[in-house]
Amino acid sequence: MRLMHRSEVALLVLMHMAVLASFAPAQEQGLVATVRINLREEKAPVSPTLYGIFIEEISHAFDGGIYAELIQNRSFEESVLPPGMKLVKKDDGNLKMELAKLPPGVPPEKGNMPWPWFMNCGWDPGRELLGWSLRNEGGAQGQMKITEANPMNNASARSLELTVAPPQEAKGGVVLVNSGYWGINVQAGTAYELKFFLRPGTYQGEVTAMLEGKDGKVLASHEFGAVRPGESWQKYTTTLKAAGTDPAGRFTLCFRGQGTLQVDWVSLFPPTYKNRPNGLRRDLAAYLEELKPAFVRYPGGCYVEGLSFESAPDWRKMVCPPEERPGMWGYWQYRSTDGFGYHEFLEFCEDIGAEALYVSFAGMTVHPENNWPIEDLDTVILRTLDAIEYAIGPADSKWGAARAKMGHPKPFPLKYVEIGNEHPPALYGDYYAKFRKAIKAKYPDMTVILSMFWSGLNQAAIDRAGDQNIDIIDEHAYRGSGWARGNFDYFDKYKRKPWKVYLGEYAHHHGGGDWSAAMDDSVFLMMMERNSDLVTMASYAPLFCNVNKRDWGVNLIEFDASRSFAHASYYVQKVFNENRPGVNLATSASLRPEPDPNAPLMAGKFGLGSWSTANEFKDLRMYDEKGVLVLSDDFASLDHWDTPGVGQWQVKDGVLQQTDKGKGPAMLLLKAPLLKTGRVTLKARRVGGSEGFLMFFNAAGPERFPFCNYGAAGNKFSAIQDRGVPEGCSFRGGMSTQGGIEMDRWYEISLVLGRDKAEMLLDGKKVSDAKAEYLPAFFATAGYDAKGRAVVLKATNYHAKSVRAEIHLDGAAKVGAAGRHIVIRSEDPYAENSLDNPRRIVPEEQPLPGCARMFSVTLPPCSVNVLRIPAE
Ligand code: AHR
Repeated sequence: MRLMHRSEVALLVLMHMAVLASFAPAQEQGLVATVRINLREEKAPVSPTLYGIFIEEISHAFDGGIYAELIQNRSFEESVLPPGMKLVKKDDGNLKMELAKLPPGVPPEKGNMPWPWFMNCGWDPGRELLGWSLRNEGGAQGQMKITEANPMNNASARSLELTVAPPQEAKGGVVLVNSGYWGINVQAGTAYELKFFLRPGTYQGEVTAMLEGKDGKVLASHEFGAVRPGESWQKYTTTLKAAGTDPAGRFTLCFRGQGTLQVDWVSLFPPTYKNRPNGLRRDLAAYLEELKPAFVRYPGGCYVEGLSFESAPDWRKMVCPPEERPGMWGYWQYRSTDGFGYHEFLEFCEDIGAEALYVSFAGMTVHPENNWPIEDLDTVILRTLDAIEYAIGPADSKWGAARAKMGHPKPFPLKYVEIGNEHPPALYGDYYAKFRKAIKAKYPDMTVILSMFWSGLNQAAIDRAGDQNIDIIDEHAYRGSGWARGNFDYFDKYKRKPWKVYLGEYAHHHGGGDWSAAMDDSVFLMMMERNSDLVTMASYAPLFCNVNKRDWGVNLIEFDASRSFAHASYYVQKVFNENRPGVNLATSASLRPEPDPNAPLMAGKFGLGSWSTANEFKDLRMYDEKGVLVLSDDFASLDHWDTPGVGQWQVKDGVLQQTDKGKGPAMLLLKAPLLKTGRVTLKARRVGGSEGFLMFFNAAGPERFPFCNYGAAGNKFSAIQDRGVPEGCSFRGGMSTQGGIEMDRWYEISLVLGRDKAEMLLDGKKVSDAKAEYLPAFFATAGYDAKGRAVVLKATNYHAKSVRAEIHLDGAAKVGAAGRHIVIRSEDPYAENSLDNPRRIVPEEQPLPGCARMFSVTLPPCSVNVLRIPAE
């Protein structure tokens, strides 16, 4: 490496300090926000239904989640292939599900589920005994297998066949073990309701049920006495009262005797929410109750679509005793018992005082070509009409009577029906229109929701449905970090139509749902509140995640068998909902000093790397914006580079080599100088692996970096991408160029950085670009709560310093001196709540003294604030 002369480096360091210093005087003055609220200028009323929840069977949200059943794979149906699907062995040797039958006119190659849905079509034949194992103790001999012989009932086609030979020792036996959903939470003093079915066959002997700790200690046990041979299924029930505690315990059935028997439908419940049989896990239900949601959307999500018509969830199979529910393989790659079924959902809505929003199957599956013929849609529509009748029809109607039979003659609070979920084709608009017409004819007050795609509007579907025929559209918004900060006026600019907007799935993604993401969500909610004439409903997604099976990166509430926690966004939603004003007030907010418009946004640490590829690099040159050489490295050593522990790096004959073809990304960062506005060029060669090269810039380390990706996504294209962007900036990638990186060929790669722009070149030709922007860092909205006679001000401060907010209550006739200040904060924007530290970020309340027509309050660094100011 030919580093610059020491005096040159010193000069650069001084220049860098000068840039930093340009911020200094402003920072020292402190940050001051001016918030003006006009009590005489009312804006849109805030929708009373704005804050709702969406619950989907994903990441074991239902089974192994809110549904309190403790036994996994209780009826041994886990490996029943979803109807309408077939198994195909792929070139990589793995089994995949494909549609068994394609609609007429669809070519056979389309049977393979297209991207990205194919990811959810994997199949593991080893699942059939999921959750179950066998222990032979004291010389006993036992064997188990799944059988379809002598089914217990039509819903449970499979059961477990167990062959038992007696132990030689008095204490032995064949012990059938269920691990629960990654452990069974056994708590001393708690009573567990057990139910299981045996068909004794030739078996003669004893059976004992036990709860065990993970060390084998018996925490509860019950002997059922002698079982005699017989051909009919028999039900066994008892209550197991635990004498000891183990949050990761297990359940066992010990057989001491001889013969072959069948076991089915083993069910164990702890005390449930409101003590309902077949009920819900108390701690998880409590999170939802405490949010006081206006509505609950259920059961999906992609889950409602079904991989095939036949495997789409069917509510009619869920409104019967749990043993009679067949359950179904779900889109998220596991089977659901449907224990938390349609009836239980409606009952839960009633319990927590929420309105029900049922998402019905639309006749369109996740496979975009697999649509029920529109001319024959009436049969599918009838399924939805019947679902409505079940919920609100009179108790003497066909489905109302079924509801009464389930113990609920009174109607349930079903107010909304959504037709399908995220169907991209324009044709979906026609399907929606047919559903809506039929529903409105019978239930004119029912709100019928049109679903959009992953994000933004599906204008083609809206056009096909016709604006006048839409009640409300469900727009989904999974957004990158900082999106709301750069788009505060998104709904202000939204063209008003005859319909309203429901943000049915939203979440900002950063970390696993960290504080920075929760601050973004707070701004998003402010955007919705102040546009409540348009946005009348919203629900975060996904709601739940069992940490042992994570189908989605960012979730609101996480849990294992015994513990749970809510991410910070949960508390933001809770506090915002608890402080939802009746009407918006005209509000403006500004912050001084404003950021230096000349400060560079792209400058920072430079680095090299690769993804699943071995590479070589040489002849690195760095120039400033005037073309003056700043650094020249011919790779004599690695002294000036940092390896944050990823990749195998060495230098040889003036060439830098990275030999690790593992997943990566391998990363080598230059210690100094930083890359500023200017240009960097070097030569790069791919020598093994499956992609091309990476150049990092403005990188914080492996956890956050923008980068030039040559040969991205399996060597298909080149583009500037990012894995997290510098704090306070938005970053937008521009063009990308198709084509891969050849093996064993030296390419010239370069990166040109401007103050807020980056360009990526390959052999002198631009292949991609990107732009960065400062993001505003202070937001506020306000409204009036007539009942509480208070102005409610919501304000988010992203700065790492506190902001002195000068609040002007224009037009206030009277202002009370003492208000309330609820604050949620974390000085570390990347901090998160977790199972081990569940209350790291939670709301705190403090008095707000000195309120007046004009007063000031300090808003802490990185904080979301709700101020309640008594005023009239
Ligand atoms: O919330 C997770 C998934 O995201 C939902 O199933 C789907 O509707 C969306 O794409």
